[in-house]
Amino acid sequence: MVEYKNMHSDENKHHKKRKIFLFFSLASLLVVAITVAAVVGSQKSKGGGGGSAAQAVVKSTCAATLYPELCLSTIAAMPEAASRIKSSKDVLMTALNYTITTVGHNYFTVKKLAAKRKSLTVRERGALHDCLEMIDDTLDELHDSKSELKNYGLKNYSLSDHVDKLKTLLSAAQTNQESCLDGFSHDGADKKVGSALLKGQMHVFRLCSNVLAMFKNITDAEMAANGDSFVERRLGEENEHEWPKWLSAGDRRLLQASTVTPDVTVAADGSGNYRTISAAVEAAPERSTRRYIIRIKAGAYRENVEIPRRKTNLMFVGDGRGTTIITASRNVVDGSTTFNSATVAVVGDGFLARDVTFQNTAGPSKHQAVALRVNADLSAFYRCDMLAYQDTFRDSRL
Ligand SMILES: *[C@@H]1O[C@H](CO)[C@@H](O)[C@H](O)[C@H]1NC(C)=O
Ligand SMILES: *[C@@H]1O[C@H](CO)[C@@H](O)[C@H](O)[C@H]1NC(C)=O
Ligand SMILES: *[C@@H]1O[C@H](CO)[C@@H](O)[C@H](O)[C@H]1NC(C)=O
Repeated sequence: MVEYKNMHSDENKHHKKRKIFLFFSLASLLVVAITVAAVVGSQKSKGGGGGSAAQAVVKSTCAATLYPELCLSTIAAMPEAASRIKSSKDVLMTALNYTITTVGHNYFTVKKLAAKRKSLTVRERGALHDCLEMIDDTLDELHDSKSELKNYGLKNYSLSDHVDKLKTLLSAAQTNQESCLDGFSHDGADKKVGSALLKGQMHVFRLCSNVLAMFKNITDAEMAANGDSFVERRLGEENEHEWPKWLSAGDRRLLQASTVTPDVTVAADGSGNYRTISAAVEAAPERSTRRYIIRIKAGAYRENVEIPRRKTNLMFVGDGRGTTIITASRNVVDGSTTFNSATVAVVGDGFLARDVTFQNTAGPSKHQAVALRVNADLSAFYRCDMLAYQDTFRDSRL
């Protein structure tokens, strides 16, 4: 989940609209779910036992997906697990297991592809490298989904938190497949590699879509059956346009406080601990569960910054948007992929930023050039600018 507040960019308006739209559609979905739950509830008491009962569960669960034939063949491909199926959740878990195995195979296929073809351009090699990174992300997200699903239904767990988290993980896993293909969407891209990729990526995309659809089908009914308090709370919360629930009180304070005590300071003029932001990120603790604050003094920082997966819970505090500027110019025309053109790329979860401008100065003739890319969960931006000509901002988590 990613949150943006008071952010200026051309894409921002559009983006906000999308978010609002998302909540609206969720609201109507839930209303529909309530009516459906009554029907599902009344049907539950029926149904026999034995193998045909398992088949009936598979059939009805797969019916909720966009690719039901694929769903059925997925379950059929795992006969041992299929024989143990009792509920929709078992179908979901079996499909998830299958998806994880498939993504694993896909990783090696893409790796081989990269090794075999000698004629690839620099950008195509870069794109394949991006794909491997994204496939790896997908695997992580699917494994996280699996452990999250194991806790599903525990009494001490808020169902809505759980559902939010899983929906985010599964949609991210799905979106990664598209982002990977983006790298081969330009004119003159290697057709063989492009079509080989397309096949595997679309397969995984559909598998993820099915898992997500089954999950929604199960949880929408359960949430509705749980009473409507969730619906009201959810709507009330979003209407206020307040901070997202997952953002801790401490983090909200850090985003708004007039002064924040940093762990380290970056200053281009040498008056801080580091001269470059990348050096400060490199020196930051790994897998931190505590917030680690990097103050970035006023100035223009000409660098590409990556917050890798292992650098969790970092926060950038600038001196003000328009004052603290991170700027670079990687772009598609000069050989980057859209994915790796980002001036700042955030992969580590729990990233926060305030009072910073993210900029990609590649002009309009350079096609896709991204100022900020976010592949991280639980990330928020407060009073930040995103400036570029095209594809200013990419959020793989929507
Ligand atoms: C679940 O899927 C079934 C089969 O498509 C559908 O009839 C039902 O309305 C869905 N339930 C919810 C809550 O979306
Ligand atoms: C999924 O795979 C795990 C092993 O990673 C196994 O323990 C579990 O039983 C499988 N679940 C289903 C429903 O096949
Ligand atoms: C809920 O209980 C399980 C074990 O019963 C525990 O592992 C988990 O951390 C608990 N979750 C919360 C949110 O307290």
